[in-house]
Parts: sequence; C-alpha cells; structure tokens
Amino acid sequence: MATGSGGATAEAPKIVWNERDKRFETEDKKAYIEYELRNGGKVMDITHTFVPSSKRGLGLASHLSVAAFNHAQSNKLSVIPTCSYISDTFVPRNPAWKSVLFSEDLKSSI
Ligand code: COA
Repeated sequence: MATGSGGATAEAPKIVWNERDKRFETEDKKAYIEYELRNGGKVMDITHTFVPSSKRGLGLASHLSVAAFNHAQSNKLSVIPTCSYISDTFVPRNPAWKSVLFSEDLKSSI
C-alpha cells in the first residue's frame, strides 16, 4: 500500500482559516494572507500576503490565495486585491478567479 507509483507529487500544505485574526495561514502560522471585511462583511479586502524568505518561490502564496478565494466564493463574498501579489501575480496567472473580484458594477447591489 505504501509503495506509491514513483510519482513524487508535492503535497499541498494545509491552510487554516483563522477567523479571529482574519487570516488564512499555514499550521505553523508563519505564512499567511491577511484580510479586512468591508461593506458589512460582504467584501474581503486582501491586504497582505507573507511567506518566509526560506519558503518563497514554491507556490505557498498561491495555496494561501486559493484557500482565501475558495472561502470567498463559498460565502458569496467578493474580493478586493489590495495586496500586489494577488493583483499582479495570482489573479493574472489564475484568471478564472476574476469572477470573484469586487467590481464597481456590483456596488449598486450591495
Ligand atoms: N507582488 C507581486 N508578485 C510578487 C511579489 C510582490 N510583492 N513578490 C513575488 N511575486 C511573484 C513573483 O513574481 C514570483 O513569480 P515567479 O514564480 O515567476 O518567480 C511569484 O510571486 C511566486 O509565487 P508563489 O511561489 O506563489 O509566492 P511565494 O510563496 O514565493 O510568496 C510573497 C510570494 C509575495 C507572499 C512573498 O515573496 C513575500 O512574503 N514577500 C514579502 C511580502 C510582500 O511583498 N507581500 C506582497 C505584498 S502585500
């Protein structure tokens, strides 16, 4: 059972939602995404993403972003990408998530 098939697939790190501190973070809390809730809690403004320098370039910020966007989507929140990693890297590389972004057009319905 434990032999595997030779395909060394990197396991996705476990990302935890820390509701009290408004973060999505790794279990050791060293890498995280921070957000603020706006418009009565309907808009998630992602203000900061941080990954320790020893772990950068491995996609950890991307995993954190997916957790945050999945949470936003399942809770019908829209996202403001204040953090430049989200606006300049994550969304351009994963354009399907554009549908979750806050847009001016939605303002009238909020
Ligand atoms: N803004 C936008 N994109 C950035 C960036 C920044 N400040 N810093 C790095 N990136 C991009 C790089 O172009 C890199 O692309 P590459 O893979 O072609 O080299 C890509 O992010 C790497 O993606 P990923 O591996 O998912 O990110 P990461 O786990 O290395 O973490 C940061 C990225 C930005 C969270 C990390 O570098 C960090 O903590 N930096 C210091 C804090 C910071 O500047 N945060 C962003 C502004 S809030």
